[in-house]
Amino acid sequence: MRKSETFLFGVTTGIAVVATVQYLVQLASYAFPQQKTTSSGIIKPVPVRFKQSEEPVADTAANSEVGSSVTLSRPPSPKSSLPSVLETLDNQLVVSSSKLQKIVLHMVSEFKKGLMNDNENIAMLPSFVVNRPNGTEVGDYLALDLGGSNFRVCRVTLEGFGNIRMTHAKYTVSNELKTGSGEKLFDFFAECIGSFCKNQGLDTGKSIPMGFTFSFPVEQTAINKGTLMTWSKGFICDGVVGQDVVDLLQRSLKKKGLNIEIKALVNDTVGTLMAHAYSDPQTYISVILGTGTNAAYVEKVDNIRKWGTGNGEVIINTEWGNYNEATILPLTPWDLKLDRRSSNPKHQIYEKMISGMYLGEIVRLILVELVKAGELFNGMGSQTLSTPYRFDTAYMSRIERDHSLSLADTKQVLEDVMGVPKSSVEDRRIVRHVCELVGTRAARLAAAGIAALVTKINRLDACTVAIDGSLYEHYPHFGNRMRDALRELLGITAENILLEQARDGSGQGAALIAALA
Ligand code: BGC
Repeated sequence: MRKSETFLFGVTTGIAVVATVQYLVQLASYAFPQQKTTSSGIIKPVPVRFKQSEEPVADTAANSEVGSSVTLSRPPSPKSSLPSVLETLDNQLVVSSSKLQKIVLHMVSEFKKGLMNDNENIAMLPSFVVNRPNGTEVGDYLALDLGGSNFRVCRVTLEGFGNIRMTHAKYTVSNELKTGSGEKLFDFFAECIGSFCKNQGLDTGKSIPMGFTFSFPVEQTAINKGTLMTWSKGFICDGVVGQDVVDLLQRSLKKKGLNIEIKALVNDTVGTLMAHAYSDPQTYISVILGTGTNAAYVEKVDNIRKWGTGNGEVIINTEWGNYNEATILPLTPWDLKLDRRSSNPKHQIYEKMISGMYLGEIVRLILVELVKAGELFNGMGSQTLSTPYRFDTAYMSRIERDHSLSLADTKQVLEDVMGVPKSSVEDRRIVRHVCELVGTRAARLAAAGIAALVTKINRLDACTVAIDGSLYEHYPHFGNRMRDALRELLGITAENILLEQARDGSGQGAALIAALA
C-alpha cells in the first residue's frame, strides 16, 4: 500500500471504528419499553428514560442543527477514496438475506404473541370486520379518510359487480392542527365534511351513513367504537389518547348541525384489504407504505387467544409499525438518532426504518455526518441540510430516478433546493448511493414483514397483497426491491404472492365496511 493510500485507509477506517463504537454504546442503552394497561384497559406507552444525558428533541423543522453558519465546524479532511466511504455505508445499511430471515422468524413469533396477550409491541388489534365483501354490495356512502398529512372526504357509490365509483376532496392537515387540541382537529374535519356535502348537493336533512378511516393505533370495542392508544406520524393533539374517536367526531358533526351517522371506524389497512377483496377474493393481506406503515390480514377468530374462543374470521390490524426489537432490527446510529429526536421516541421503530415520513430524514442525518467528516461537498453543508425533516423522501425518489451522466437533477436537488454551495459529480454519486441504500433497506424490511404474515397464515400457495401508499406508488424500484427480497426469502413460492397496487382503498373500504355494518 502506498503512503497516501495508507492514510486514506486510516481516515475511513477511523470513521468506521468510531461510528461502530458509538453505535454499540447507543444500542446497549436501547431497551424498548413494554406498554402498560391502565385500569380502564387503555394502553399507555411507558415514559422513556434515557441512559444518555441527551434529551429528545421534537421533530420540527425549527430544530435546526446549525445557526446561520453555512460551514460545518470541523475542517474538511482530505477526500478519501469513494469506494471506502461507500463500503462503510454498505456495511451499516445493507440487510443480508440471512438477516432478513431472522427478522421474518422473529416477526412471526411477535404476531403470535400479539394475538395471545394485550399490550405486546405488535398490538394485533381485531377490527370487528368479520365479513369480507362479495362484490354485490350496493349503496351511496360518505367516507372520511385521515391517513397522515392529508385528509379526504369521499362520496363512494358501490355499484355491485365489484365496481366502485368515488369522488373526493382532499385537505391538508397543517402542523398547527397536528400539534394543537383534539377538539380543533375534529372540528376541522366536521367543517370540511360540511363544505363537501354542500358542494355535492347532499341533503344533510336526512341521516347519511359514513365510514371513518382513522389511521392510528386504535383499540376497537365495536365496529363503530374505538379508543386511540397513542398518536404516530407526528400527531400529538391533546385530549384524544384514551378517548373514543368516533364519539369525538360525532360531537363535532353535531355542533355543525350535520346529520351524519358514523357506521364504521376503520384503519386504512383494513379499508384497503376490504376494497381490494371486493374485486379479488384472494386478498388476505393489505399493507400501507406511505407516510407511515402498517399491515392487516384475515385471521381465524379461534387463533385470537386474547379473545377466548370463537368461530369464523376477522380482519386484524397488526400495527406492525411498532415492531421494536433492537436486537433483531438492523438499527444504525442514524436510526437511533432519528428516534431519540422524534415526537414518539422508542415507538414505531420498524415504521421509522421504512416509511415515507422518515426515509428522507435518515438520508439527511447521514449526509450531515459525511459533510462533517469532510467526505461530501468539501465539508460545506447548508442551513437547509442542517434542518431536521427538510430533506424530503420525495427528493430521494428524484435522485434515484436521475440516470443522467452528470446527475443533473441530483445537482438541482442538492444545490437549488437544499442550498448546498457546490457538489461534484463524485459527491452526487455518494448521495445517490446513500438514497439507494436507505430506500432498498426500507423495501427489504417491508418485504420481510409480508413474508412473515404470509407464513403466519400459511398462504404460500396463493395470496394477493393489496398495497397502498405514496412510497409504494411513487418511489422508483420499491416494488421490485420488495419482490427481490421475497424471492430470497421464499424461493420459488414467492411467485404465488401477488403484490398489487391498491389505490384509494382506505376510503372505499370504509364505505364498504359501513355497508356491511
Ligand atoms: C399507524 C397505523 C396506520 C399506518 C399507515 C401508522 O403510523 O399507527 O394505524 O395504519 O401508520 O397509515
